[in-house]
Amino acid sequence: MSKTDNSEAAVLELLKQIKYPGYSRDIVSFGMIKGIIIDGVNLTVQLKMEGVEDKIAKGLKDYTLEVLKNESGYEKVQVEVENIPKPGQSAKQTTQTGSIADPKPVKGVKRIVAVSSGKGGVGKSTIAVNLAVTAGQQGLKVGLLDADIHGPSFPTLMGIGTHPEANEEGVIPFDKHGIKSMSIGYLIEKDQPLIWRGPMLNKALEQIVNGTQWGELDVLFIDLPPGTGDVQISLSQKYKVDGALVVTTPQNLALDDTHRGAVMFQHTNVTVLGIIENMSYYRCPNCGDVSHPFGKGGGKREAERINLPLLGEIPMDPKILELADRGEPIVIADPESETSKSYRALWQNVAGKLGEF
Ligand SMILES: Nc1ncnc2c1ncn2[C@@H]1O[C@H](COP(=O)(O)OP(=O)(O)O)[C@@H](O)[C@H]1O
Ligand SMILES: [Mg+2]
Repeated sequence: MSKTDNSEAAVLELLKQIKYPGYSRDIVSFGMIKGIIIDGVNLTVQLKMEGVEDKIAKGLKDYTLEVLKNESGYEKVQVEVENIPKPGQSAKQTTQTGSIADPKPVKGVKRIVAVSSGKGGVGKSTIAVNLAVTAGQQGLKVGLLDADIHGPSFPTLMGIGTHPEANEEGVIPFDKHGIKSMSIGYLIEKDQPLIWRGPMLNKALEQIVNGTQWGELDVLFIDLPPGTGDVQISLSQKYKVDGALVVTTPQNLALDDTHRGAVMFQHTNVTVLGIIENMSYYRCPNCGDVSHPFGKGGGKREAERINLPLLGEIPMDPKILELADRGEPIVIADPESETSKSYRALWQNVAGKLGEF
C-alpha cells in the first residue's frame, strides 16, 4: 500500500466514528464519503447525501469537521457537503416520511435530562444522583434512570441492594431519598458481568425506560454511559431529551472529551444545556484555604470556548466518597455543606434552562 492509501485509510477510520443521527450505522457504511483529498498538510473530505434535512446535513458536516480537526493531524481540514434532493421530494419530506428517527416522549414524563460525560470516572453518576435528589428536595416529582449499563452504580450510590417488584404493567421503581430510581443494577446480581452490545443493549435500555412505572414525573434524569457511542445517540434519538448536561473535571483530557460529547449532542439535535465542572476545587476543612488540585478555571474556559454556559462547580469533597459507600447522597446526609449548596446552585441554573414545569 502506498503512503497515500495509508493516510486515506486512516481518515476513513476516523470517519467511521460518525454515526448518522438515529442509526447505529456510520456515514462510511451509508456510502456518504465521496472523496478524501490529501494534499500535503491539507485534508478535504467530500460528503455526498441524498435528500437529507438541512439541519442534519449541517450537523454531520460540523461533527465531521470537529473529529477531523481534533484527530486527523492535518493542519488544514475542510469538509464539503453535496446534498442532492431526492427526485420529486424536498429535503423536509424526507423527515416526514420517517427516514430520520422521530424522538418520542416517555408517558407521564414532562422533561428528560441526560447527564453525560466524555469519559468515565469524572463523577457523572454522583452528580446525576445528587442533582436528582436536590430537584426532589425542591418539591419536584423526580425520576432517575441509570443507563450506564456497563457500570451501573446506583445500587451503591442510592443504597439499594434488593430487586424491584414488578406487575403486569412493568417494574415498580424504588422510591428512596425522595425520588424514583431505576437501574439495570437493581435487576442483576452484584458483580455479574454484563456483555451486552449494540442492538441488544439498546433494546434492554428501551425496556427499562418504557417498562418502568414512572407515574407522573416533572423530570427524569438519565445517567448515560460515558463517551459518544451508540447508546447515547440511540437513546437521544428515541426519546425526546429536553437537554443534556456534560460533566467534566478540570483536567485537560477530560475537557477534550467534553468537547466531543457536546458536539455529539449538537449533531443529534439534543440541546446541551451546559457544562458541570466536578472536583473544581478543594477547601481545606481546617484552615478554609481553597486549592485547585486538578487545575483552575478549566471548565469555565472550555465552556466559553464551545459557547456553552458553565452551570455549576462542585467541590472535591472527601465526604462524597465516604457517603457514597453508605448509599447516602451528600445532599441528604449533609444538606448544609458547601457541596450541597453547590448542588442547589447547580439545580437553580439547570431549572432556569428547562423553563416552567
Ligand atoms: N466532588 C467529588 N469529590 C470527591 N469525590 C468525588 C466527587 N465526585 C465524585 N467522586 C468520587 O469519584 C468516583 C467516580 O465517581 P462516579 O460518579 O462513579 O463517576 P462516573 O459516573 O463519571 O464514572 C467515585 O468514587 C465518587 O465517589
Ligand atoms: Mg457512573
